[in-house]
Amino acid sequence: MDITSQTTYDLIGGERSLQQLVEAFYPKVYSDPLLSPLFNGDMNEIMRKQKMFLTQLLGGPPLYSREFGPPAMRARHMPFEITPVRAQAWLRCMREALDEVEMDGTIRELFFARLSQIAGIMVNASDKNERED
Ligand code: HEM
Repeated sequence: MDITSQTTYDLIGGERSLQQLVEAFYPKVYSDPLLSPLFNGDMNEIMRKQKMFLTQLLGGPPLYSREFGPPAMRARHMPFEITPVRAQAWLRCMREALDEVEMDGTIRELFFARLSQIAGIMVNASDKNERED
């Protein structure tokens, strides 16, 4: 395939890579003291949803929207109190997961920058006394 017609989804290694990433990421989220109070649902289901969302975010098939409609991620996150410190915690878990699956180079930089931008948009509450050391 011509490099110019490859999506970011292809470049990161497609379905297999995203599966590895969500499997590395969510156990960290569920055991993070700042994030775990928000995550009470089935881990396999959130992994499945995140994999579908990231697939379409990166230019792969629109799996998430086919099943759930418009992503509207900020609205879907409104029931949860997402402070700047929690957004940083989410991104730290993601950085560790990216290390674990050994995604590096330019593609990692671009992907992480995109996730950081979305995480910033998810913030819907201010920090009170929580501090991340
Ligand atoms: C900024 C920090 C974030 C926090 C604290 C957070 C927290 C959460 C929580 C608590 C849920 C619900 C889990 C459940 O149903 O059990 C959720 C769902 C989800 N999050 Fe986040 N999230 C954050 C950022 C992001 C980002 C950056 C993305 C995408 C790149 C994302 C994508 C999703 C998706 C796809 C779902 C599933 C939505 C659905 O129910 O259909 N989240 N998130």
